[in-house]
Formats: sequence, C-alpha cells, structure tokens
Amino acid sequence: MTDLAYVNGQFLPAENAVISINDRGLQFGDSVYEVVKAYGDKPVLMDEHILRLERSAHALNISLNGIIEEIDRIVPEGLQRTGFSQTIIYIQLTRGTQPRNLIFDKTIKPNLIATFRPYGLDLASMRSNGIKVSLYPDIRWAHCDLKTTNLLGNVLMKNKANDEGCFEAILFTEDGRVSEACSSSVFVVKNGVLLTTPSSENILPGVNRKYVIDIVAPQLGIPVREEHTFKDDLFTADEVFLTSTTFLVMPVIEVAGQQIANGKPGPITMSLVEQFEKNIHN
Ligand code: PDD
Repeated sequence: MTDLAYVNGQFLPAENAVISINDRGLQFGDSVYEVVKAYGDKPVLMDEHILRLERSAHALNISLNGIIEEIDRIVPEGLQRTGFSQTIIYIQLTRGTQPRNLIFDKTIKPNLIATFRPYGLDLASMRSNGIKVSLYPDIRWAHCDLKTTNLLGNVLMKNKANDEGCFEAILFTEDGRVSEACSSSVFVVKNGVLLTTPSSENILPGVNRKYVIDIVAPQLGIPVREEHTFKDDLFTADEVFLTSTTFLVMPVIEVAGQQIANGKPGPITMSLVEQFEKNIHN
C-alpha cells in the first residue's frame, strides 16, 4: 500500500493529492495541524490531539463546522484502508482558498487534508543509543503554543542541527531559558526530579509532555516540576530527554557536542520509555 491521502472528502494515493495554489495554508502558513501515531487501528491519545486542534483553530478563528466529525470518520477509515502496522497520521486544516490577500474572507470554507504513512523511525536503536542534539537561540514567533504550519523557524533550525549530525535542536529564549525543541518537548532530570518548561506562549503544549507529567511519571513515583531550566542546566543535568508523538520518550546523550552525564541513556528516562510503551499497548 502506498501512502494514502485525504483531501476535502476524498481518499486518494498521496502522490495524486492536490490543493489549490490559492490555499491560505500554502501562501501564509494560515493553517493548523496535528500529527498522530497509530498502532494498527488504534491512534494514540487521539482525544488530546483533537482538543489541541480545536484550541489552535479557535485561536486563529478557523471554522470547525463539521470538521471534528469528519476527522472522527476519516481516521478509522484511513487506518483501515492502509493497514500499516504503525502509521503516522498527518491532519491539516487550512483556513481555506481565496485569491491571495492577507485579509481573510471570513466566509471561506476550510480545507481538510490528511496523509497516512507508515512509521519510519528505528525507535529501538535510537532509544538504546540515545540521540545528539544541537542548542540554538529560539528564533520562532510569539505564539508557539498554537500548532500552526507557520514552521519556518523550526524547519531552518532542525536542518541546521541535522547538518551538524544531530537529530534535534533544543532552543532557548533571549534570557537563556530552555523553551522546547524544534518538534519535541524537553525534560531535564536533576536529583531524581523531572523539570520541564512551564506552559506558556513560548512552547507547544505537547500531548506526550502532558502524558508524562500526568500519567507516566506519577505511575513510577517520579516527581515532576513545571519549572524553567536554563541552557547551562542541560550540561549539569543527570539526564535529558525529549517527548513527541513520533518517538514518545527519547533519551538525549549529547547537547551541543557536550556529553550529558556518562553519555548513555539514563535510567529514569528508560523507565519512562518502558512504562509509556506498556500503557499504550494495554
Ligand atoms: N511535533 N514542540 C513542537 C514545536 C512540536 O512540533 C511538537 C510535535 C512537540 C511535541 O508535541 P506532541 O507530544 O504533542 O507530539 C513539541 C510534531 C510531531 C510534528 O510537527 O511533526
């Protein structure tokens, strides 16, 4: 089965899926999105992704008329049509189509597009080796709490990190506080406590970040504090890890060329990996 797409009411092979050149998502990044992982026919934390999509769309005044019902219909159907063992579902809702104009027409109908692709990361080896990350000033805009496709800063920084042989980049604001990473949330482990950036307009409220805070860490009796860390705290951390839909929990072994602790995935991180996996497969 090739990658599957869905565009405004129709499933079709991804390579044949097209959208207008006047789509505002294309022209302005005027759109919101979610990335969801599924095991077989079971999407992980779907309700939380839908809640965040609703929040992002409301904040931008993108109409959700009938959209959530449509997503609820197409996700199971797309998973059934593809039958991949693990799927990355990409859902994007653009404000709609109109001749290019910064001022949007309040009456246009949003475009709902989605893709269903087989999951491509070798998680087992990434987790057992841990990943290296770069460290950069956060150059993004002032509403990183909204999951919009306005992602140029993330794109440029993640490519720079990639060119440096790193999988991700951790970002810090002007005062040196860690915000998040290009497409994941950041946790620092210090003296047995998980520290992660408090929710604000500077970070995306990560679904997996919240699941670690609310469910996985408490299950293991690991205390969590939503508290700012500074970039130097990364180098003295006992462990650093990232969370994201695409890898759940991922140990970081090196930041900006400097080894974290003994340069191996840490025991607290690995216990979170194991417990998280256990929860979603039950
Ligand atoms: N990114 N921070 C940013 C900037 C992100 O783009 C993401 C997710 C996260 C983690 O959020 P969650 O746990 O809800 O996946 C944090 C997705 C996977 C992406 O854009 O591909």
